[in-house]
Amino acid sequence: MIISASIISLNFLSFEKELQQAEQAGVDWLHIDVMDGQFVPNITIGPLFLPFCRKATKLPLDVHLMINNPENHIKNFADAGAEIISIHVENNPNVLRTIQEIKELGCKAGIVLNPGTTAEAITNILPFVDLVLVMTVNPGYSGQKFLPEMLPKIKKIRKMIDQINSKIILQVDGGVNKETITSVIESGASAIVAATAIFKFPEGIKAGTDALRNN
Ligand code: DX5
Ligand code: ZN
Repeated sequence: MIISASIISLNFLSFEKELQQAEQAGVDWLHIDVMDGQFVPNITIGPLFLPFCRKATKLPLDVHLMINNPENHIKNFADAGAEIISIHVENNPNVLRTIQEIKELGCKAGIVLNPGTTAEAITNILPFVDLVLVMTVNPGYSGQKFLPEMLPKIKKIRKMIDQINSKIILQVDGGVNKETITSVIESGASAIVAATAIFKFPEGIKAGTDALRNN
């Protein structure tokens, strides 16, 4: 199982130290939540942040774009060092063109579904992507409660993936912790994102990562 640690919950005063602790704890990817205050209510960070992550750690940079008009920003994120770039299917008429651009730039391409979006919304795009990301909270903030109502959708997408190309990574993001992870994995996810459960775990980053891994 791929664990992608979301930087949204780290303590930026000890940025480098926390990233290195996450890497040493055995997380697989670093998840970078990019929010524009339009597509989602919150605002976070842009491409300028990625080279600092790259200097602090060798972990692949897994960029989750929660922004309007993502097509205008793909090259900037690829040039800044992103290995994986995921875009939302909602409000995105050029979704296939943008997925193709992400791949042409040498990155893995992901498609993301909000809680209100059906599995069928990605049927036509599925053969073109490397990763599907199912949101199990409304995107915008870390620390929200996991929506178990999304589990049937994860199962449905697992079936859709297995029918065409089982190498596509099925990632789940939002409220994943040591309690909720079991149902996520049982539903067919091969990758999870966690912010709070890693960077705000009471006993520290290593213990938080172990608690996820040992479930
Ligand atoms: C939600 C983001 C998530 C989120 C994860 O908008 O895409 O990556 O911050 O945070 P936790 O793990 O705390 O739910
Ligand atoms: Zn995310």
